[in-house]
Amino acid sequence: MPCRSCGAEVTQFLDLGLQPLANAFRRADDTSAEFRLRLRSMVCDGCKVVQLAEPGPAERMFHAGYPFRTSSSARMSAHFTATAERLVAGLTTPDPFVVEIGSNDGTMLAAIADRGIRHLGIDPAASMVREAISRGVNARVDWFDAATAARTRNEFGPADIIYAANTICHIPDLHTVFKGLETLLYDGGVVIFEGPYLGDVLRLVSFDQIYDEHFYLFSATAVARIANLHGFALVDVEHLDVHGGELRYTLARDGRAPSPDVATVIATEDREGQHSLARLEVFAAEVVARRARLRDVLVEEHRSGRRVAGYAATGKSTTVLNYCGIGPDLLPVIYDTTPEKQGLVTPGSHIPVEPFPTDFGAYPDTFLLFGWNHTDEILAKERKFIDRGGRWIRYVPDVRIG
Ligand code: TMP
Ligand code: ZN
Repeated sequence: MPCRSCGAEVTQFLDLGLQPLANAFRRADDTSAEFRLRLRSMVCDGCKVVQLAEPGPAERMFHAGYPFRTSSSARMSAHFTATAERLVAGLTTPDPFVVEIGSNDGTMLAAIADRGIRHLGIDPAASMVREAISRGVNARVDWFDAATAARTRNEFGPADIIYAANTICHIPDLHTVFKGLETLLYDGGVVIFEGPYLGDVLRLVSFDQIYDEHFYLFSATAVARIANLHGFALVDVEHLDVHGGELRYTLARDGRAPSPDVATVIATEDREGQHSLARLEVFAAEVVARRARLRDVLVEEHRSGRRVAGYAATGKSTTVLNYCGIGPDLLPVIYDTTPEKQGLVTPGSHIPVEPFPTDFGAYPDTFLLFGWNHTDEILAKERKFIDRGGRWIRYVPDVRIG
């Protein structure tokens, strides 16, 4: 199986087994067969990008009722408002046009719309597009590909900035993405996108970043090579402390000089051997060990008669639950603030998802923290639980309880 990005040979370093789609929450009485995908991580010998062996079915993943909502975290809302300010500061033409691929509920574009700047959000998730529109954002239900890009350019003209957060890594066919970027972007414009960073995943052993939607796990090394294959250059890179550690990449094709950070980050990745099979196999061994430790801790908590509940039914939790074999016997409930997930059960593991109890007496003794990427926000919110001696089980950056 060749690399989906460049066609070179890929080598497997991790097999997480058959997994359901991370956001395929379902009704408890739904007994239909669940779609499963063998989650195997590969590294490419050519462009170096880490990728899954097989893509999931896009229409089943990013459908009209897709439940992930950007604004479900206050921190992420603030991040995207700050992002909008950064994008606006980079606009130089008289009547600029900003496009967001995967605009979700319009959190970022709402701040662009507020400034009266021409913009368009493109996202296949109809319910989120409706929500974006209700906030005054111009958004459409569509997939971003070469044809959508051509239609958009015909209607609005070229884009000054094309932005995407946690979306480019969802699209296995980078050829159509780059064809679209090439068509839609103004010659002097920039493409800015961000997503979970391979370097952070290796450092934290955050194996739960691996699920069907995260088809690629990008790095500066890989994005620089991929961009070059398509006539772009990686001209800036910035580390972001959101979603468990991300990189934000800026691509351009106007011959501008890259910022020194590009070479620095690539040199670090190189020095740490982040794309070497030896390093990736160390990571895979750590993943196996982490599964055993997490199960031990949960079983012990159960044996001690403590009531454990999951904190946040994140997409990432699907990998943890299914890979570690955690079901309702060990974890009877997961609390989550997203209305679209509440009342359903988790994919594969069938654990009920419920709203957080309003009565504090109904709180568990211990929370298993699936929303570890939102730790600060969650700890600030759960002061009462903590003060009362509530316990947390964490599995990133290592398995610990207390
Ligand atoms: P994410 O990690 O993919 O952003 O998923 C966030 C999920 O966590 C989303 O379903 C909402 C949930 N959540 C809570 O239930 N409580 C919280 O305090 C936060 C920050 C998120
Ligand atoms: Zn490749």
